[in-house]
Amino acid sequence: MDKIFLKLENIKKTFGGVQALKSVGLEIRAGEIHCLAGENGCGKSTLIKVISGAHDPTAGSIYIEGEKIEKLTPIDSIRKGIQVIYQDFAVFPNLTVAENIAMNHALLTGTKAMNWKKSRELAIQAMEQIGAHMDPDVLVERLSIANKQMVAICRAIINDAKLLILDEPTTALTQKEVSMLNTIIRNLKDKGMAIVIVNHKLDEIYEIADRLTILRNGENVATGPIGEFDRKRFIKCMTGRDVEEVYYRPEDSREVILKVENLTRKGSFEQVSFDLKKGEVLGITGLLGSGRGELGDALFGIAPAGEGKITLNGKEVTIRSIEDAMKARIAYVPEDRLTQGLFLDCSIQENTVAASIQKYLKKGRLNYKEMYEATQNWIQKIGCNAKSPKPLIRTLSGGNAQKMVIAKWLNTNPALLVLNGPTVGVDIGSKADIHKILRELAEQGVGIIVISDDVSELIQNCSKILIMKNGKTAGSISSRELDETKLSRLLTSEEETV
Ligand SMILES: Nc1ncnc2c1ncn2[C@@H]1O[C@H](COP(=O)(O)OP(=O)(O)O)[C@@H](O)[C@H]1O
Ligand SMILES: [Mg+2]
Repeated sequence: MDKIFLKLENIKKTFGGVQALKSVGLEIRAGEIHCLAGENGCGKSTLIKVISGAHDPTAGSIYIEGEKIEKLTPIDSIRKGIQVIYQDFAVFPNLTVAENIAMNHALLTGTKAMNWKKSRELAIQAMEQIGAHMDPDVLVERLSIANKQMVAICRAIINDAKLLILDEPTTALTQKEVSMLNTIIRNLKDKGMAIVIVNHKLDEIYEIADRLTILRNGENVATGPIGEFDRKRFIKCMTGRDVEEVYYRPEDSREVILKVENLTRKGSFEQVSFDLKKGEVLGITGLLGSGRGELGDALFGIAPAGEGKITLNGKEVTIRSIEDAMKARIAYVPEDRLTQGLFLDCSIQENTVAASIQKYLKKGRLNYKEMYEATQNWIQKIGCNAKSPKPLIRTLSGGNAQKMVIAKWLNTNPALLVLNGPTVGVDIGSKADIHKILRELAEQGVGIIVISDDVSELIQNCSKILIMKNGKTAGSISSRELDETKLSRLLTSEEETV
């Protein structure tokens, strides 16, 4: 068996009354890539901070290379070869690449004066080691997020890291940057380094992990080789419940809810035509820049189309503004819920009734009791874990906030609901809940359009998928004829039509 670099036994950590870690055991082997997954608040960051010496555990034992550590301070942890890269990378924007990379080394070795030449040498060496190409003299503030991360990785490895921990390293990266990062991580593994990656996206985990540990509510609920986890077990461990993988394939219907003909918005999309039948969930997909998001914006009048015809439930509608769209009973869940979908400093209740406030306005007065009751109803119906309608919406987790954005629009009783990236940044349990809501709405006769680039989301929930390329529709396919691999291939192929 591989050498065990780090071993944790029965680690407990409490903050006041909160038990963040309940009795966690974990083994990290030299030369392995170990993913750590779990929903928000399950204790991942706390566990990392115990390993980095930032948190003193309330109870439990830590062994590094077989040696029991009585008290692990942050500096001990670094000296023993443990390096953590947090989500903000902790790089200094106003220093150069070389200075950033060499700084910790200088601190650690007690170097008093920073030697410019030496810093540069160290930085170049580190960059060579991981195959990064950056100008050592450029200010870090001028780098892309992916390159800032590279700087943080270089800084970690010049301190003889034996265990490198990355807290959610891929959240702000593009697909291409993720695969570059994966290459670097695999190289470090081949040199014998142990790597821990916090991530909760299963597809990314499959790509890189040797072993996987899943935490739930401060407990280690599963550890094992990645091959032991199929999608179903992964979801069960993450959420603690059986989330079925449903493939929504409704009966064919003749009744057309929405007909779009030759919709054009110059510079965004051209001659887009499709229809949405009763019971269908229509997926619209395409790569970034394909026009998929602009099409959603146009349907809701945010950036209206200049030409074309939209017919909703048999009536032609003209959409030149959000007002027009709302009058036509069209609702839109935007891509960026934090800035566009929510009033963060208002209560859950205020957000829920925000798009339907007229309903509660009688003789110039707002009926607060009705607003409260409506919100309470939605909280239950949509499975939001808010305790009451009163708290600020910003206190909800991403998944719960997104459920309330959907509730806000459902409270307007829409004929057509368009959702742009409905589950981006949403935890896996809420994601399944949201998908179920959408399928149920479609069954009830609400027109549902899901704009997304999440291939499994599309395949599972949409009965028909419209693919866009360079602002044009490249084809529309029944999802009966598709699987995830085929859809990914169609999306990325150079062909103009599919
Ligand atoms: N410094 C702290 N003080 C009080 N509670 C904390 C602190 N750090 C974390 N917690 C709580 O511990 C739990 C686990 O948090 P965290 O480790 O950040 O989870 P994760 O990283 O998995 O999202 C949460 O309930 C969180 O609110
Ligand atoms: Mg965290």
